Amino acid sequence: MEKCYPATPKCPNPFIHVVKLTKAQRIKGLVLGSFLFPVRVFLAGFFFLIMWPIASLRMVGLSEEQRSRPVTGWRRWLYHSVVRTLSRAVFFSLGFLWMKVKGRRADLKEAPMLVVAPHSGFLDMLVLCPTELATVVSRSENQSLPVIGALLEFNQSVIVSRKDPESRKNAVSQLVERLTSNGYWPQMLMFPEGTTTNGQALIKFKPGAFVAGMPVQPVLLRYPNKLDTVRWTYKGSTWLDAVWHTTSQLYTNMTVEFLPVYKPSEEEKENPELYADNVQKLMARALGVPATDYVMEGGIPVRKLGGLSLPLESPAKEMLTLLHSDGLTAAQVAQARHRMLERCRAASGSKVSVDELHSILSLSDRQTTTHVCGLFSKDDSVDLTQIYISLSALTDPENLEELLHFVFPLFDSSGEGSLSAEQLSELMGALLGVPQRHTAELYEAACTDGRLTEGNLLHVLTSHPTYGRALSGHLLGEEAGLRLSDTPLANGNNNNSSNNKKLD
Ligand SMILES: *[C@@H]1O[C@H](CO)[C@@H](O)[C@H](O)[C@H]1NC(C)=O
Ligand SMILES: *[C@@H]1O[C@H](CO)[C@@H](O)[C@H](O)[C@H]1NC(C)=O
Ligand SMILES: *[C@@H]1O[C@H](CO)[C@@H](O)[C@H](O)[C@H]1NC(C)=O
Ligand SMILES: *[C@@H]1O[C@H](CO)[C@@H](O)[C@H](O)[C@H]1NC(C)=O
Ligand SMILES: *[C@@H]1O[C@H](CO)[C@@H](O)[C@H](O)[C@H]1NC(C)=O
Repeated sequence: MEKCYPATPKCPNPFIHVVKLTKAQRIKGLVLGSFLFPVRVFLAGFFFLIMWPIASLRMVGLSEEQRSRPVTGWRRWLYHSVVRTLSRAVFFSLGFLWMKVKGRRADLKEAPMLVVAPHSGFLDMLVLCPTELATVVSRSENQSLPVIGALLEFNQSVIVSRKDPESRKNAVSQLVERLTSNGYWPQMLMFPEGTTTNGQALIKFKPGAFVAGMPVQPVLLRYPNKLDTVRWTYKGSTWLDAVWHTTSQLYTNMTVEFLPVYKPSEEEKENPELYADNVQKLMARALGVPATDYVMEGGIPVRKLGGLSLPLESPAKEMLTLLHSDGLTAAQVAQARHRMLERCRAASGSKVSVDELHSILSLSDRQTTTHVCGLFSKDDSVDLTQIYISLSALTDPENLEELLHFVFPLFDSSGEGSLSAEQLSELMGALLGVPQRHTAELYEAACTDGRLTEGNLLHVLTSHPTYGRALSGHLLGEEAGLRLSDTPLANGNNNNSSNNKKLD
């Protein structure tokens, strides 16, 4: 399968999931769920809680030094047989009455690392049973959770903190040590996507599992059910939805498939990113879904392009959908943009209240204005310049020149007609609607003689082989995010490249 790049309507947005129920299914769910949900959650909680003292017993009386080595003897036995049975019981209670296992799990000597995808939610943890409780790598936040925190410690997991770079380095060296220990440490398991998705596309793999350059075994998770209930994503289903819908089914199917061990080439050993990409493509092919370069960056789903972060769903796109649903036509949106520009030019300070925004947009429903406001700000005033810029970039990409002419001076605070690297980051952030952290490459491409002028920037953004395509592809709304919103705008097959005009 081709890498999905740039994103196209064929690549669905993997960060959204909604459980779609027919009326009959909803009624059946309510009837079964009102009985099954409390019973199952109680049983699962019960089995989960009794794991706690048993897990603690595992480490009791061990010195700090002994704890830093793999546990052996009765402690290992206790952990494996009892805790494994209890883990299975937790998931059995939740409705995973049986589980299909395909292929053969590689032993530790063949592959010290299992890479599991797609990652759908915490119910994926059932995979720990057929993998004999392989050790996971977890984020430090989870250590403070009740029970889970204790289990993480007793499982001797590797803990990574996302904020502390020192701890990351530590975790990586710990990981490499374990993976290259030649059978001394137990097998490990990672979800290289690093976050949960709806499974309709694989997002970019993080290189962590691949840094040691050791063989990995890819493991596929599938939930072949009539209703797709287990997922818990950035938008849509929450963990509570996932538990409710899953427990209110009579049972839930799950298939774990072990693929053959993947041995990295010399080149892949040298380059963990390449290794990760190749394993991602292989797994995507086996699942029959696209391999994408989508990542979650700072809590926002984006696509990476030459260092830029292009949001799968920008506030401007959502705003446009809202305006459209309130009945504004393309021409009326253009008029509203014009009023915004006048307002930005006329008054000093571009903060406006909801009321003022409401009259500028001239919407019929005030609720819509409040929603629009909420997309761009947390309180009840918004920066009109920001709205104007991102809305214009989206709806009127042909006039990028005009837009840039308005935007450039706003960021060129010294008035020299040239931007610094930081100013460029801020300007691109305003254009694309999400913060930009890696604009060095663009800066490089757009600088001549140490100066980044408006003309240079326009040239790069319209004709550079990478960035030209980024902006037109991104701004014309051709990719994933829009397709799911079910509006005329979302029609990726539209013949007219200026399809943003078809707002009516
Ligand atoms: C750790 O916490 C994150 C959220 O902070 C969650 O997505 C992830 O599934 C948790 N991992 C484990 C092993 O509990
Ligand atoms: C630790 O072991 C318990 C018991 O099997 C399991 O439920 C839990 O998911 C494991 N946690 C991690 C992070 O490995
Ligand atoms: C589970 O899978 C079987 C086929 O293997 C299918 O017939 C059945 O409908 C599935 N169950 C659910 C709840 O979807
Ligand atoms: C695109 O144009 C072709 C002919 O040029 C037409 O057959 C097709 O229906 C059009 N598709 C849309 C979505 O307008
Ligand atoms: C595309 O849009 C232009 C005007 O914007 C219109 O004249 C033309 O007929 C449209 N083409 C199609 C195939 O819809």
